Amino acid sequence: MSQTPEHILEQLRALLANAYVPYSHYPVAAVIRSGSGQLYSGVNVENAAYPMTRCAEQSAVQGMVTAGEQRIDEVWIMTRGKRAGTPCGGCRQVLSEFGEPEVKVHCYTEDGLEFHTTIGELLPDAFGPKYL
Ligand code: THU
Repeated sequence: MSQTPEHILEQLRALLANAYVPYSHYPVAAVIRSGSGQLYSGVNVENAAYPMTRCAEQSAVQGMVTAGEQRIDEVWIMTRGKRAGTPCGGCRQVLSEFGEPEVKVHCYTEDGLEFHTTIGELLPDAFGPKYL
């Protein structure tokens, strides 16, 4: 069962329309709640030079760090399609850099299908700053 506030779901649905996805046609929207309680959003931004593509989660993290924050407390992601897409491997690594393993990650489809997990479940034993 979801406890996600409706305004976050509305924000995610609106963000999907802003994703720049001329190549994959697969929009992704992400919202991050930071340590201060502020919400940061992002969408995927693709590029004709394919490896330059930026994932939605990473766009949101970029905004959070740019604003001077470095702690993720909760994550919401929305995709289209039959099942709620989970963060890709690179995004799992990026989320784990700023979020503790118990931080919740909520994945939705536009139609409301849900999958709830945590950063730690997505990337157990993550490599991170503690090793360096
Ligand atoms: N994508 C994301 O934005 N986040 C993910 O975690 C998975 C993949 C994007 C990248 C690309 O624009 C499209 O989804 C298809 O891979």
